[in-house]
Amino acid sequence: MTAANATETLRVELGERSYDIVVGADLIAHAATWIAPVLARPRTIVITDENVAPHYLAPLRASLQAANIDVDTITLPAGEQTKSFVHFQTLCEDILARRVERSTTLIALGGGVIGDLVGYTAASVLRGMPFIQVPTTLLSQVDSSVGGKTGINTRHGKNLVGAFYQPKLVLADTTALNTLDHRQLMAGYAEVVKYGLIDDLNFFEWLELHAQALIDGDMDKRRHAVLTSCAAKARVVAEDEREGGRRALLNLGHTFGHALEAETGYGDKLLHGEAVAIGMAMAFDLSRRLDICPGQDSGRVSAHFDAICLPNDLAVLDTIGWTADKLLDHMSRDKKVEGGKLTFILARGIGQAFITRDVAEAEVRSLLEDWLANRSG
Ligand code: GLY
Repeated sequence: MTAANATETLRVELGERSYDIVVGADLIAHAATWIAPVLARPRTIVITDENVAPHYLAPLRASLQAANIDVDTITLPAGEQTKSFVHFQTLCEDILARRVERSTTLIALGGGVIGDLVGYTAASVLRGMPFIQVPTTLLSQVDSSVGGKTGINTRHGKNLVGAFYQPKLVLADTTALNTLDHRQLMAGYAEVVKYGLIDDLNFFEWLELHAQALIDGDMDKRRHAVLTSCAAKARVVAEDEREGGRRALLNLGHTFGHALEAETGYGDKLLHGEAVAIGMAMAFDLSRRLDICPGQDSGRVSAHFDAICLPNDLAVLDTIGWTADKLLDHMSRDKKVEGGKLTFILARGIGQAFITRDVAEAEVRSLLEDWLANRSG
């Protein structure tokens, strides 16, 4: 079987900004097959990080060069700190130093940090250069590489400076997941479950049956999970690119999750996907407390997370000194606050999420106090 016929292609329908998401095994080594047709000119700069470069930079470069595409490379330090003003500035200068033109394409090879930073840089340098996402983590394959959210962190919070800027192509090579460490894989899996919880009970049930095989490395299951997730995301983005409405559903678990990440300092203590997992358990618990969601469904969400050892309570964290007020303060800095009101994604059941601004602060405070006291719902 050739690389080309082992792949599946989805389309993100956004008029003249439409693009393909290609999902399959062993894509990076054959990347030129999909990249060459979307280049304005055969000139690229691949931007990656020190963890990803040793695995995937050489095969990507070899494939592009074999197709007579000029390849320059920039390797950045790995880690969330790279998504900063300082690295954004250095990257812009490094790119400009290479005398680029608007027809030069930037290629983001890496996880969410590289994808978000390179996307924002592409949106900014020369007021817009084309860029391609080659996501190498589960989280970036199923979420951050699709949909055009790009940006950097500030001391006021994550992703607070950025742009909606769509890539020309997303190349999700599921083979790259083989070199991902287990904790990162699990953090990405949280974003996979999210699509089932939002509006796809069948997918959630499939995950209940097959998550362990997927985690253990079953390539067909991985491909199915990435494809289903990307298809769900592509549908939402096509409907609501700039998050005027439905796209906010993709933030299930994020209002709570961002507060937990802020309190832990956006580092290794709590990865983004882990925060989202705990945040989704909290959102389902809040829905149960408000009598919107049957307790059986919120219990089923936590039971699934327990079954695959994905954190879904605060017991995994050192919460000494944490208060409901501190967490509420972090939540009030969320990008989705409107007229001082927090946006919550709640659920009437598994696969029935909805957006609301009508949650009394007292209910949220009481949930946070209980979770902090019991370190779980
Ligand atoms: N990660 C949520 C979104 O792309 O809208």
